[in-house]
Amino acid sequence: MTSELPFTRTPHPHPATPERVAEVLAKPGFGQHFTDHMVTIRWNREQGWHDAEVGPYSSLALDPAAMVLHYGQAIFEGLKAYRQPDGSIASFRPEANAERFRSSARRMAMPELPDELFLESVRQILAVDDRWVPAAEEESLYLRPFMISTEKGLGVRPASEYLYVLIASPAGSYFAGGVRPVSVWLSTEYVRAAPGGTGAAKFAGNYAASLVAQAQAAEKGCDQVVWLDAVERRWVEEMGGMNLFFVMGDKVITPELTGTLLPGITRSSLLRLASDLGLSVEERRISTDEWEKANASGELTEVFACGTAAVITPVGHVKHAGGEFDIADGGTGPVTKQLRERLTGLQHGHVADTHGWMTKL
Ligand code: PLP
Ligand code: COI
Repeated sequence: MTSELPFTRTPHPHPATPERVAEVLAKPGFGQHFTDHMVTIRWNREQGWHDAEVGPYSSLALDPAAMVLHYGQAIFEGLKAYRQPDGSIASFRPEANAERFRSSARRMAMPELPDELFLESVRQILAVDDRWVPAAEEESLYLRPFMISTEKGLGVRPASEYLYVLIASPAGSYFAGGVRPVSVWLSTEYVRAAPGGTGAAKFAGNYAASLVAQAQAAEKGCDQVVWLDAVERRWVEEMGGMNLFFVMGDKVITPELTGTLLPGITRSSLLRLASDLGLSVEERRISTDEWEKANASGELTEVFACGTAAVITPVGHVKHAGGEFDIADGGTGPVTKQLRERLTGLQHGHVADTHGWMTKL
């Protein structure tokens, strides 16, 4: 059934003109433009995974009683494909996204898409939409796989029909201002995830629930919200869509995976790259108190956030209900810069891929 599932291919009848593709790639932004095609695969209880198709990018037809519209069974992934110096395309650790997608599915009582099918869907979209992969530095093709429940019915239970979709979008900088230090708001009023909840899953509802806190951060004049633990509201968890790292001397510290934060693939990669650079790495709890004190004493020299969309983004300023402070001089520190160069160099094929992370599907 699984890896042998044949993909039918229907080319787009009116693909974008070369001029239009060039126009989009000249200024891709983030998540605003989509390629000509998409991949869809269906699942139901009787047939398992079936009807794998590559077809024109188009609207989805859903019954108004489709369960996803009412009870929200929806998960997604985010990964990138990069143009290599020889013109080929490689994606960054897609097997890790395939595995996390299965883990998110398990948490939401959805069927697990076999890794071979996930990877094949990536291979298929890159084959038909190759010309949409940008070549410029800092640019890539962002791939967005997702799965929703499509069964018609209002009973609250795991659905018996699902749709997997993969769409692709040329991507430049995630933040409108390009790469520059961001300011963050420490949220104590709202929390993202509680023990036993859905925080470790890439579940759509986590993002819906985050929006009011992101709006509050914006009201406070900050770019992003930093989530704290739900119980004591003092342990730093992550940012909206990014994991966090703290640099103290030659130590690089990131909050440990407690089940309430997303196990970022960039996070795990940077732990390895930081070790490669001779830095010592720690995964442990870090409190807002420690953050502020280590900053005041000068022990804390840099903070940065990381994720597929945001790459590595320095944090320059912190605001909370009781005050605000700059991180060091509020700029981009040397460790942040070095890790960013190493990671993006590897992804774009300028730095040796010693960990075997780049996959040519
Ligand atoms: N945390 C959250 C909540 C995210 O949505 C993301 C983005 O995927 C990350 C962290 C970073 O994960 P990754 O590095 O796998 O993109
Ligand atoms: C990603 O980095 O891929 C994300 O999913 C973060 C955000 C765009 C939701």
